[in-house]
Amino acid sequence: MCGIVGILGKQAVATDIVDALRRLEYRGYDSAGVATLEDGKLSRRRAEGKLKNLETVLSQRPLNGAIGIGHTRWATHGRPNEENAHPHATDKLAVVHNGIIENFRELREELIEKGRRFESQTDTEIVAHLVTVEMEAGKSPVEAVGAVLPRLRGAFALAFLFTGETDLLIGARRGPPLAVGHGDGEMYLGSDALALGPFTSRVTYLDEGDWAILTRHSVEFRDEKNRVVHRPTQIVTPSAFLVDKGNHRHFMAKEIHEQPEVVGHTLSTYLDPISGRVALPSTLPFDFRDLDRITITACGTAYYAGLIAKYWFEQFARLPVDIDVASEFRYREAPLPAKGLMIVVSQSGETADTLASLRYARQNGQHILSVVNVQTSTIARESHVVTPTIAGPEMGVASTKAFTCQLATLAALAIYAGRARGHLSETEERRLVDALMTVPGLMNEALKREHAIETLSRELSKARDVLYLGRGTNFPLALEGALKLKEISYIHAEGYAAGELKHGPIALIDEDMPVIVIAPRDGIFEKTASNMQEVAARAGRIIFIGEGGMAGEAGVHPMAEIAMPAMDPFVAPIVYAVPIQLIAYHTALFMGKDVDQPRNLAKSVTVE
Ligand code: M6R
Repeated sequence: MCGIVGILGKQAVATDIVDALRRLEYRGYDSAGVATLEDGKLSRRRAEGKLKNLETVLSQRPLNGAIGIGHTRWATHGRPNEENAHPHATDKLAVVHNGIIENFRELREELIEKGRRFESQTDTEIVAHLVTVEMEAGKSPVEAVGAVLPRLRGAFALAFLFTGETDLLIGARRGPPLAVGHGDGEMYLGSDALALGPFTSRVTYLDEGDWAILTRHSVEFRDEKNRVVHRPTQIVTPSAFLVDKGNHRHFMAKEIHEQPEVVGHTLSTYLDPISGRVALPSTLPFDFRDLDRITITACGTAYYAGLIAKYWFEQFARLPVDIDVASEFRYREAPLPAKGLMIVVSQSGETADTLASLRYARQNGQHILSVVNVQTSTIARESHVVTPTIAGPEMGVASTKAFTCQLATLAALAIYAGRARGHLSETEERRLVDALMTVPGLMNEALKREHAIETLSRELSKARDVLYLGRGTNFPLALEGALKLKEISYIHAEGYAAGELKHGPIALIDEDMPVIVIAPRDGIFEKTASNMQEVAARAGRIIFIGEGGMAGEAGVHPMAEIAMPAMDPFVAPIVYAVPIQLIAYHTALFMGKDVDQPRNLAKSVTVE
């Protein structure tokens, strides 16, 4: 994850910016940079690699400005080199950016037609040029940023510094967090309170869609409709700096809201958005063309990610997938194909049953590919190849962002396998990659349904049992929804393939039974619609999660409807995970449960 820092100070700020960036090192990065104004003139220094390289550059060519912005970059668009490192600049401004600008390709083409030239392969540079074009047309920096922000699609945080404006910084947030730190005649911007810790304990987080105009003595917050708004300032305690929950009450909430950012980072590790191709970060020690089938093993939420991936591998690569929970797999003495592939999925990389399954497969001559979040873990170390998830530390016991990052990684792998085996054309690969690139923005949209979800969760918190239904890749998501609700609210919940309804669970349906139906617009929506009618006919209370208006199309009147944005059905299980997680979170909250530390559960299950 990239890190952003901005300082409106009283004396030279470059050293303080680098110190603050160091506090964001935990987010991971591969290049860094700083820009400041001296006598109103913009200068920047950038370096590939770690902050010590930037410090070397700064010691050779110091920056003395008392206002500046800095950045640690986790490469998304373009290689991690100095050219692509932030800040990006024109003669009018410098900008740093975290996240992905989804529509950067069309904006870049528009700017090239206007004669703008680019120095980097990044999506960030288009923001610098768009704002510059507005300023050249006579707008002030604030007006220019205000004009450009609505044109950007995706999930991102930005910080701007302007030539000649020695008392102005602008920050904007749509997705990744951004905080303002209030000093004494000084003002700060940072990706989180941790970065701002040494400067101030008075912190205001930007709300989703907000942007902020900072001077040394003032800050004005505006919402996405450009209305001036008030945002509360919090006093952040020193201990909170160590385990920062941002402006969220719980880690689980923070982690749900982080998903546009971390899924974006995970996707950028595997996709090249310019070519529209999957580009794996490491060479695989096997060839997908040589495989007859894949074995996947995992536990809990990671197992459900594997179940969704089964659909993708079978559809895109025509590779049969044998999948089992690790506690069963390790004892069932499964016959494994010679030189076959086992994919192991685990957030912690320490889960005992998953590790034992890995060892069994290794002893039986399998190639081991692991999808893990903790790259120093035992599972990562004992694998032949690791395709990491870039979720960052997950503190909540209920897995949320690790799950969607696992899905992002597995989706990229399935597309890669499909191409390698000749079952996907270049055009199909590009369509799927483009669909994946829309996920962070769509997740951000999904997060906006939180208020509606909160309202419905109040009702749900009174239920004794809840049923989740889905078809295709949304069947495993139904299982995941039920697990999430069970583990943090302790309400009994079951996930079912919607087509299985009439083979048993329909007997449970009555006016007391909420039935959550996950039904994006896809080729089998009509089948799910019939299942909903079966539930409605028995007075079951339907909670419909699907594209706006589709419950009506299906001829049912749900008790509640979570209207999702339109999307390629391929990415639906990744995006629809967001409302599923929010339902569990808010229901548990209404019931007064400890969502981050549910009873009887541990984050990492290192025993059988
Ligand atoms: O660390 P792992 O991904 O291997 O953990 C697997 C499960 O223990 C984990 O997903 C568990 O089911 C979570 N509590 C689900 O929210």
